[in-house]
Amino acid sequence: MTEAAEEAIAEQLRWQAEACRMIGSPLYAALLERAAADVEARGPVWEVLRGHESDPRFSVLGLRLFGTVNRMAITGREPELAAAYEARDASRAWKALRDAIERNTAELRPLVDLPVQTNEVGRCNALLFGFLTVAAETDMPLRLLEVGASAGLNLRWDRFGYRANGFTWGPADSPLQLEFELEGTPPALPAAVEVAERRGCDANPVDASTPEGRLTLLSYVWPDQPERIARMRAALTVAERVPVTIERETAAAWTERMLAEAASGQATVLYHSIVSQYLSDDERETFFGHVTTAGERASADAPLAWLKMEPVDDRADLELTLWPGGETHRIARVGYHGSPVELL
Ligand SMILES: C[S@@+](CC[C@H](N)C(=O)[O-])C[C@H]1O[C@@H](n2cnc3c(N)ncnc32)[C@H](O)[C@@H]1O
Repeated sequence: MTEAAEEAIAEQLRWQAEACRMIGSPLYAALLERAAADVEARGPVWEVLRGHESDPRFSVLGLRLFGTVNRMAITGREPELAAAYEARDASRAWKALRDAIERNTAELRPLVDLPVQTNEVGRCNALLFGFLTVAAETDMPLRLLEVGASAGLNLRWDRFGYRANGFTWGPADSPLQLEFELEGTPPALPAAVEVAERRGCDANPVDASTPEGRLTLLSYVWPDQPERIARMRAALTVAERVPVTIERETAAAWTERMLAEAASGQATVLYHSIVSQYLSDDERETFFGHVTTAGERASADAPLAWLKMEPVDDRADLELTLWPGGETHRIARVGYHGSPVELL
């Protein structure tokens, strides 16, 4: 062990603290700062995280640790931590978190390897405009193919209600009513769409139909964001009613398989949100290559749309490419969790 190792881990945690501060979790930002100092002092956080000094930043080490501990808070194993989170009291939460980590060091060490699973339905606020544009332009039922779908919650986007600055869309009686900030005026869009198929893949899918899967999804929602917790619970209710197929497969292989045959009379929409950064450069290139090759084969009877919501800076871009033709349009700039949506 060297001091460089401690510095490297502390730096990852401070980078995460800044990200949490930027996207609305002052509680996690404060706790990550303290966790970084604890690593430098070789405290309990260091004991759990040592060995992870070379993990890539985007594997979000701090969130992996906090998610596994939050799971213990949610299930009642760490009631003081749950109470401190509920009170959003950073000093009390830090003490409870540090104690929980110290008590459970051996159990936490392997659990920290599990990837973060944030299946964020708020992203549908933006994806909606892509799906509706495809429906408007093709006038066909949509065949939805989601890459990196996690639990596939976003494959049910048409079963959620949407509200923003005078804009509404979707079933008003859905358990999930998404509210967001919308900048810009939406074009005329279809009030209803037909979905022919809902299918996704993920390297590490979560089964939202099991208590275990639901707990996993909830544990990665930041505890000082009650509106996201409520959103997740409502999305899980919708998920119970609308089945989807999620296959355990990686992006490039699955996409090649799914796009091998054209779906006549349907508009295939291959989409992904906040996934590209998790792919190796090789896999990303192969995956993108499969989409463009399939695009070149697309016809008016079997069009292909590629919808991406991927980070650029402090916002993500929503881009749509539609074949035949293959023109790409940047539709919106979007906050990572789906608000605001700035239509371009
Ligand atoms: C940040 S989550 C986003 C999940 C979902 N797209 C959303 O917006 O809520 C990233 C997802 O990508 C998945 N993933 C990572 N590497 C992958 C790969 N090579 N192929 C497919 N999925 C992958 C992860 O398991 C995770 O579910």
